[in-house]
Amino acid sequence: MRMVDLIEKKRDGVELTPSEIRFVIEGYTKGDIPDYQMSAFLMAVFFEDMTDAERAELTMAMVESGDQIDLSAIEGIKVDKHSTGGVGDTTTLVLGPLVAACGVPVAKMSGRGLGHTGGTIDKLEAISGFHVELTPEQFAAQVNELKLALVGQSGNLTPADKKLYALRDVTATVNSIPLIASSIMSKKIAAGADAIVLDVKTGDGAFMKTPEDAERLARAMVGIGNGTGRQTMAIISDMSQPLGFAIGNALEVQEAIDTLKGTGPRDLTELCLVLGSQMVVLGGKAETLDEARGMLEEAIASGRALEVFRQFVERQGGDPRIADDPALLPQADYTFEVQAKQSGWVADIIADEVGTAAMLLGAGRATKESEIDLAVGLMLRKKVGDRVEAGESLATIFANTEDVQEAMKTLEENIIISDENVPAPELILEIVT
Ligand code: URA
Ligand code: CA
Repeated sequence: MRMVDLIEKKRDGVELTPSEIRFVIEGYTKGDIPDYQMSAFLMAVFFEDMTDAERAELTMAMVESGDQIDLSAIEGIKVDKHSTGGVGDTTTLVLGPLVAACGVPVAKMSGRGLGHTGGTIDKLEAISGFHVELTPEQFAAQVNELKLALVGQSGNLTPADKKLYALRDVTATVNSIPLIASSIMSKKIAAGADAIVLDVKTGDGAFMKTPEDAERLARAMVGIGNGTGRQTMAIISDMSQPLGFAIGNALEVQEAIDTLKGTGPRDLTELCLVLGSQMVVLGGKAETLDEARGMLEEAIASGRALEVFRQFVERQGGDPRIADDPALLPQADYTFEVQAKQSGWVADIIADEVGTAAMLLGAGRATKESEIDLAVGLMLRKKVGDRVEAGESLATIFANTEDVQEAMKTLEENIIISDENVPAPELILEIVT
């Protein structure tokens, strides 16, 4: 087989066979196929797309390019959740204990990463003593007993994806539905998921700016999941404004605890119930989404979801009193209110800009080397559609410096007030199965 023939075939819109796709991915991972040929191939995929069979084969070739996590020591159907990313997205912290309380095993591998705030591990490290260093045996035992454990990323997962992503980044081929979908799904499958729930976000705080693109990506990922024997469902959710109120690590832990108690923000709670229902159904613990939702609501009302959180924190070395006493979380030295300059209705909260304000305060990493300040961030006091009077607080800044001018200005410019009543955006745009 010669790479040049496969580039030509894809360029001309002809479907590649499974062995041809394997040849491309294995050859590129090993270094036998040079970057210039792979670049041409990626550009051909960008323009000619891939069939469902090609996408599934590409995904499994990437999965098999490196280590795969073996979760067979864990009982039950392991359901993983993936979000395409947004601002102030605290769902993982809520969903873990919530679905675990309904009997679905949550064997989560998480990262730190770059962004407006830290990754799930950074957030949990706001809890004094919490750690993610579990041996594979401890990890499996904890999931079997408590239904919930979280470890840091380890092993050499999907090296093909790492190499391909770096090349896509410099060849203008990141933004291709089959390439994004296979990249995300390969990582979930390599991490051992039997079933996958996807939260594809849309809006200016999201990777997919329009609902149409979000739907195409959701359908592509559901197609790959089902085509590789992993039951997969997706929802498309709004990220035109941040989710919930808190943006910042300790602040989001507090918000997650509130949500597990049933007193969290309405949008975050609803999203967790919708995603959680899908996880409970895929985990085989309920027949219908309605039945699953009832179970989740009961887990919150009875306090069982919060109790799972408490035990999870304790088993991973953290201070479980955090669940009842938020003052034990890292606290910022200063707070400042962002005041409304006029009366009216909140018309827009530009999610990515508001996220940038949190990063400016030190809540997230701009580069891999940046240090995170777990205590800082911001709390929105209003959401789109809310009435506001001049002088009222739109948001509170939590900082460890008195110099918050840049963050303050960013927030003032990106929380937009209108003279006219604006409806709150629809949170769940679609469910894709
Ligand atoms: N996120 C991923 O993991 N892969 C992509 O290709 C794009 C976004
Ligand atoms: Ca917006």
